[in-house]
Amino acid sequence: MPATVVVGTQWGDEGKGKLTDLLARDMDMVVRYQGGHNAGHRIVVDGEAFALQLVPSGVLYPHITPVIGNGVVVDPAVLLAELDALSAKGVDVSRLLVSGNAHLIMPYHQELDRLNERFLGKNALGTTKRGIGPAYADKAWRVGLRVQDLLDPKIFRQKLDVALAEKNLLLSKVYNRPALKAADIAARYLDEYAPRLASMIGDSVGTVHETLANGGRLLLEGAQATFLDLDHGTYPFVTSSNPVAGGACTGSGLGPRDLTGIVGIAKAYITRVGAGPFPTELHGEIGDLLVDRGHEYGTNTGRRRRVGWFDAVMARQAARLNSLTEIAITKLDVLDTFDEVKVCVAYEADGVRYAHPPYHQSVLHEVTPVYETLPGWRTDLSAFTTYDQLPSAAKDYVAFLEQTIGVRISVVGVGPGREQFVRPA
Ligand code: GDP
Ligand code: IMO
Ligand code: MG
Repeated sequence: MPATVVVGTQWGDEGKGKLTDLLARDMDMVVRYQGGHNAGHRIVVDGEAFALQLVPSGVLYPHITPVIGNGVVVDPAVLLAELDALSAKGVDVSRLLVSGNAHLIMPYHQELDRLNERFLGKNALGTTKRGIGPAYADKAWRVGLRVQDLLDPKIFRQKLDVALAEKNLLLSKVYNRPALKAADIAARYLDEYAPRLASMIGDSVGTVHETLANGGRLLLEGAQATFLDLDHGTYPFVTSSNPVAGGACTGSGLGPRDLTGIVGIAKAYITRVGAGPFPTELHGEIGDLLVDRGHEYGTNTGRRRRVGWFDAVMARQAARLNSLTEIAITKLDVLDTFDEVKVCVAYEADGVRYAHPPYHQSVLHEVTPVYETLPGWRTDLSAFTTYDQLPSAAKDYVAFLEQTIGVRISVVGVGPGREQFVRPA
C-alpha cells in the first residue's frame, strides 16, 4: 500500500499515534496533513511514553522521514520545544521536513483563541486554545504567514505588518487588550526560530511525490477526527481543518488516486473533549469507570474526556466519508471488567429511525440511541498476543462491530504499549 491514511473515526484520541507508530514499521515516510498542536498523540515504547503534538508519530523509527505537510498549522516555538524534548530522549529528529507552505501560528492567534472562548461564555466550544481556529481563519482570509516566510525577512515583516494592523485594532478596541509589537514578534520568529528551523523547511509536495515515484511507502497521519471535521463534524463544535481522508490529499499534495489504503481508527467505546452533541454519552458509575480504566484525560490539555458507548451510527458515516478500507479498534482492554457492553446501532427521534446521523443538527441533539447489549468477557486482555487467545465474548464483540459497521477490522488494541495489539484473521 504505497500511500495509506490513518484517520480518526470518532471525536479524536482514538489512538492514531499508536496505530501510526505500528504501521510505520513498514513505511518510509510519515506525513501529518492537518491540525496543529491541538493534537496529542501518545505512544508507549518499552514502557517509555512519548506525547507528540506536531512531529509525526513515525519519528521514533530511524528509517522514517517525518514530514509536516502543507495542511498543518505550525507554532514554531512548540515545534522547537518538541524537537528538543525528543532529542533529549535520544530520538534523532534531524530528518524532519517541514512544508514551506504550512501556515504559522502567530502569538495573536493564540491570544484571540483564548479571548474568543471567553467572549463566547456559556457558548464556548472548549477549544484547546492553541490558536488553531484563528490561524486557519487567516489562511482562508489570505492574511496568513507561511513557514517559508521565515526564510525571507522582508516578506515576513511586510505580511506581519499587514496582519498585525488589523489584529491590534481587534485586540485593543474589541477586547481591551494591549497591542502587540511587530518588532518583538519579528525578533522572536526571525532571529530565534528561523535559524533553527531553516534547514528543515522545504518542498514537501515534491518530496512526497518523489518518494512515491521511487517505490517508497507513505503513511498519512491524521490528527483530530471525522466528527471534528470542519465540514463533516458536529459544527460548530469542530476543529478548523479537514481531518477526513480527503484532507490527506489537500494537506499533503497527493492526488486522490495516490491513496491506496484508508485505515479508520476507533476506540471500543467513544470519547469527546470539549462541547457538542454526544448521543451515547454516559454519566454516573459506568462513565466514571470508563474514564478511570481508560485514563481518559487529554494527552495535551489534561482535560477529562466525556465518555460513551460505541456509536455504530457514527462509525458507518465515517466509513462513507473516508472510504475506509479497514478499521483498527483500540482500547478493547478498557472494557475487560464490564458484565455487559452496549453498542448504539441506530438513533431514534420523533418516531424516525436513523442508521446514519441525521443531517440536521437540531435532530442530532434530540436523538435517543438504540442499543444492542452484548455479554462482557471479564478477562484481562492485556497480555494476549494473538486474536485466537481472546475469550469468545470479546471476539463476538469485535465481530458485532465489524458486521454493524460493514468494514473489516484489521487490528485490535489490548493495551497502550507498541506490542499490545492482536490481528483478527
Ligand atoms: P490519538 O490522539 O488518536 O493519538 O490518541 P491519544 O494518544 O490522545 O489517546 C489514546 C490513548 O490511549 C493514549 O494514552 C494511548 O497510549 C492509549 N492507547 C492506545 N491504544 C490503546 C489500547 O489498545 N489499550 C489501552 N489501554 N490504551 C491504548
Ligand atoms: P487528537 O489528534 C480530541 C477538540 C477540542 C475542541 C475542538 C476545537 O489528539 O485526536 P481546536 O483547538 O482544534 O480549535 O478545538 O476540537 N480537539 C480535539 N479533541 N483530540 C484532538 O486531537 C483534538 N484537537 C482538537 O477539544 O472541542
Ligand atoms: Mg490525542
